[in-house]
Amino acid sequence: MLHRVNKKIMEKVDKKLIVDTILVSAKYRGIYRPTVERIVNELVGRYPVKDLEKAVRNKMHQVWGAYAKRKNLVKHSQTFQTCTNNYKLSKNNIENSAIKYCLLPVLKLQTSTDERINILDEYYKKIFEITGKPKIVFEPACGLNALTYFWMGEGVKYVGYDVDQRQIDFVNQIFVDCGVENRARVMLGDIFEEKYIEADITMFLKVLILLERQKKGSSLNMIQKCKSKYVVVSFPTRTISGKKKKMREYYKKYFMELIDGQGWKVEIIDFENEVVFVVEKIL
Ligand SMILES: C[S@@+](CC[C@H](N)C(=O)[O-])C[C@H]1O[C@@H](n2cnc3c(N)ncnc32)[C@H](O)[C@@H]1O
Repeated sequence: MLHRVNKKIMEKVDKKLIVDTILVSAKYRGIYRPTVERIVNELVGRYPVKDLEKAVRNKMHQVWGAYAKRKNLVKHSQTFQTCTNNYKLSKNNIENSAIKYCLLPVLKLQTSTDERINILDEYYKKIFEITGKPKIVFEPACGLNALTYFWMGEGVKYVGYDVDQRQIDFVNQIFVDCGVENRARVMLGDIFEEKYIEADITMFLKVLILLERQKKGSSLNMIQKCKSKYVVVSFPTRTISGKKKKMREYYKKYFMELIDGQGWKVEIIDFENEVVFVVEKIL
């Protein structure tokens, strides 16, 4: 009996220790604690204790590490400041092309936004042609795409969340610098933990495959759970290394099969580097 109790306590202590160790590491400092805890809980028992931390780190890399070059955030924050000072941006003018220009080096920091730069001028225009101009856009797992808020046009409110505190502080600071903090903000949140916000559009941009890697079979459920009439889902059409491998056709088939039988209306927009599905749900 005593032995069983001790074993239980040991396991608890180990889990906390692994979470703490990962969260003090330079790479994962600032990552949302419930995300790390969730991953540890999912993997505990599937690996010998000595290999568990490594397995969690590998999973963390899939969730987050492969997408961000965080050490550049400070440098780019300075670049952004210099640019904004140079252009003497007038606050509250979110159409100001100078803001967009200042943000380009920042958007280059994440592969998913970097690939979107060339299509940004038409990206939301084309989506909103289908959905109508939204009042509220909600984007879980937003990454740096939150900053493309400035391409959405006037009158839109934006809420995003992601798992990285340092990135979130960085994005929110830019929103403050540009005087749009009352209309746009990002928060810490895990797609598997948080409730969804009511919005006109919920966007899952380039994240469905990532969700499936974290929890097999989860992505359809995520779309079903959305509290919005429209759900915008996208996939990259080239691999992270830049190679094109008929991904567009592959994802079109994949997604249409995924939502088959839901009775939702779908329109597809083929952008240069990205295929976008605009799903109209019957609420
Ligand atoms: C490929 S990037 C896409 C970012 C953005 N949606 C875009 O298209 O530019 C994946 C993003 O999902 C975030 N992410 C991964 N798993 C997540 C989770 N469980 N909860 C919240 N965010 C998550 C990562 O931190 C990363 O910023």
